[in-house]
Amino acid sequence: MTDQTELDTVAFEVVDHVAWVKLNRPDKRNAMSPRLNRRMMQVLDELEFRADVGVLVLTGEGSAWTAGMDLKEYFRETEAKGLGGTRGAQRESYGWWRRLRWYQKPTIAMVNGWCFGGGYGPLFACDLAFAAEDAQFGLSEINWGILPGGGAAKVATELTSFRRAMYHSLMGENIDGKTAVEWGFVNEAVPIAILKDRVSEVAQKLLTKNPVALKATKDAIRRVREMTYDNAEDYLIRAQEAANSFDNEGRKEGIKQFIDDKTYKPGLGAYDLSKQKA
Ligand code: ACO
Repeated sequence: MTDQTELDTVAFEVVDHVAWVKLNRPDKRNAMSPRLNRRMMQVLDELEFRADVGVLVLTGEGSAWTAGMDLKEYFRETEAKGLGGTRGAQRESYGWWRRLRWYQKPTIAMVNGWCFGGGYGPLFACDLAFAAEDAQFGLSEINWGILPGGGAAKVATELTSFRRAMYHSLMGENIDGKTAVEWGFVNEAVPIAILKDRVSEVAQKLLTKNPVALKATKDAIRRVREMTYDNAEDYLIRAQEAANSFDNEGRKEGIKQFIDDKTYKPGLGAYDLSKQKA
């Protein structure tokens, strides 16, 4: 049985086909505890294939997106249980970040405040990221005596330059949302007052796109990063052909509405999904 406290660590609601999922331990700055990690996996499972969910937004309640791993519950208390405790806790947290990296629906990190350490896992896992200008990003591991584990070092080097990643990790200094844009951690930073509106706008635009193409595209962008050009070329041919087995009409309709019907221009927006035959 999942007790109520564990259930409360994550809050969510679905509005207009967007799932708004919140890390919900504001009194602990949404630090990721084993209970939160377990609950988040359940919530992601529950939402992933719901017909009324087309986009998932991950945000935080209160002043934090997440203050990273819970130093007491995730580190101290699991270490006290020995190697099994540590590995178990790692599997739960890394598990939901991996699920999010390859999620069926497009995902958006809405970074409303503090984002530290382990928080870089879900940050990278989300396909797009929008931050409040005043949000603070930090690899604070060095400040309390460990390396940026749990993927954080990998995330830093994936998203920003070698020199910035090294400075960020060694110095333990925070950067704000605007600098996070410059460094490539997030797409945009806007005043907190309009952050939700901007993310809603992006989510609604994603909802106008072909959902099979969205999944194929987000996976392709992640996969090809580590491939040679020739391997990527081959993967992309096969990925499109595999996508056709889920939706063989979309691209034909997309071509028809442009070339025959002349009702839209692909260079300026998406075709009308509602006219597509199943
Ligand atoms: N783990 C456990 N508890 C935490 C964490 C955390 N990561 N972050 C905050 N808390 C707790 C505090 O201990 C405090 O608990 P209490 O009310 O029982 O005393 C409560 O959350 C509120 O925290 P404050 O520090 O009072 O909040 P404030 O808004 O002043 O500061 C800040 C916020 C800067 C995020 C601060 O809490 C902080 O430095 N947290 C740790 C950040 C960090 O280094 N995280 C680990 C990254 S490394 C990794 O994830 C592997």
